Amino acid sequence: MTDDLDDALWWRTAAIYQVYVRSFADGDGDGVGDVAGLRARLPYLRDLGVDAVWLNPWYVSPMADGGYDVADFRDIDPVLGTLEEGRAFIEEAHTHGIRVVLDIVPNHVSDRHEWFRRALAAGPGAPERELFLFRDGRGPGGDEPPNNWIADFGGPAWTRTTDPDGTPGQWYLHLFAPEQPDLNWEHPRVHEEFRSILRFWFDRGVDGFRIDVAHGLVKDPALPDFERHSRDPYLAADGHTHPYADLDEVHEIYRDWRRVADSYDPPRVFVAEAWVTTPERLARYLRPDELHTAFNFHYLQAPWTAEGMRESIDESFAALGSVGAPVTWVLSNHDVVRHVSRFGRPDHAQHKALSELRDEPFDLALGTRRARAAALLSMALPGSVYLYQGEELGLWEVEDLPPEVLRDPTWEHSGYTDPGRDGCRVPLPWSGQEPPFGFGDGAEPWLPQPAGWATLTAERSARDPGSMLTLYRHALRLRRAEPGLTGEAMVWVDMGEEVLAFDREGVRCVVNFGAEPVDSPEGAEVLLASGEVVDGRLPRDTAVWLRLP
Ligand code: GLC
Repeated sequence: MTDDLDDALWWRTAAIYQVYVRSFADGDGDGVGDVAGLRARLPYLRDLGVDAVWLNPWYVSPMADGGYDVADFRDIDPVLGTLEEGRAFIEEAHTHGIRVVLDIVPNHVSDRHEWFRRALAAGPGAPERELFLFRDGRGPGGDEPPNNWIADFGGPAWTRTTDPDGTPGQWYLHLFAPEQPDLNWEHPRVHEEFRSILRFWFDRGVDGFRIDVAHGLVKDPALPDFERHSRDPYLAADGHTHPYADLDEVHEIYRDWRRVADSYDPPRVFVAEAWVTTPERLARYLRPDELHTAFNFHYLQAPWTAEGMRESIDESFAALGSVGAPVTWVLSNHDVVRHVSRFGRPDHAQHKALSELRDEPFDLALGTRRARAAALLSMALPGSVYLYQGEELGLWEVEDLPPEVLRDPTWEHSGYTDPGRDGCRVPLPWSGQEPPFGFGDGAEPWLPQPAGWATLTAERSARDPGSMLTLYRHALRLRRAEPGLTGEAMVWVDMGEEVLAFDREGVRCVVNFGAEPVDSPEGAEVLLASGEVVDGRLPRDTAVWLRLP
């Protein structure tokens, strides 16, 4: 935690905690997390030692995609709270030295958004429709979608509308669910609206924004058919340019937004959710007049091997260093399988989707041991680090949610084959012996918690010196207090092929990936270890922070 909220460069080194509001803490007893619950738990975040929180969207939303279908960006959804509670939350977070980052969703809105309702009502050819991507269908009667694009959740990226007179009408584009029509970023009104939304929240003291689908706003105006690359949805097959991922024109939008952020004192900041193909492409979003940081999905997707982790770290530093941007370290978020559950799988299976990963044998103890080591690695690297709520408790992915409780649109749009992302969004266990584990004291939580989380509650973990929570608290405290860990430099040290080791001004981080235990350097003092270090020897899947003599 930075005591000084005036530090304009806080984002270069911050530890930022991601709050999935619906699943964090329930203040009003309806089974859904909310702003009241979050306010009540602010002391927990202060004690954890984070510098900032990033909140998934809290705006008015019919929740077709967990709030990423926004009906009104200038208000908070009544299920989650009120604008007044939001204001109080921002103020209280600041009192605790915690900054607040919100989530902006510029690629699409909800189909209940006023703009889209008006566009539907106005009919083909009306100016209201120009704010979206409406097109006539192909084939006889316009019965076929305008192109062959596939939506991210499965199925065609186009839905046909019905005209006001009841006849089948035009189609509209949605890269995600049909309830999330894409905006037309060729239209100046869209630019103006988002500048105004940024100001609305910056004026209310918000410190920054995470930008949802930052790579996707601009589309090739010809909306051409294209074949996806078989291995990477953000690449087109045969070397063609992708028609909507990472187009060069998107950067002008962020230059514009940067000017808005820089007009505040202290300047506000951005973090991009940009799924691009290489760290070099990511660096383009972080040029000095664009965004500040971006999630490092390259690192998140690296296999748990010395070689894989080292390569992703090196590539990230090389690419982002070229534009002077700090690297971010992220292991989990609300879209991916929790890393305890990934790291507890055989190496070849760690990056499969949940639908396939589920069939691989799972070793919880192994996943937890590696998660502890990975946490120390991430928190020792120079740059900023993102923590997804519950990882500090060692939560695992809930892989056996009954089909009737699933809310992720992936489930429906995959034809009920892929359960999607609800397994990492299960409400947090705070206290007690059984569900709802102090999440709220009223209705059942909106997703059921596993009974096995009784050993992982925040209350119990706080008292257990061997818990994941205790490890995170110590690591975050040291990361701030230890002068060697506050700078931006690091140097690799060769301690063998199966070992990652690097120095940062008097502090060394060592991670052993190999079967053979590794000896600590003579005279080094153990600051923190993710597992047992016996006689200075570091076992497999263990990380240690050492102060060098
Ligand atoms: C981003 C969000 C994800 C959401 C999607 C559509 O990838 O992280 O949760 O479903 O955008 O907005």
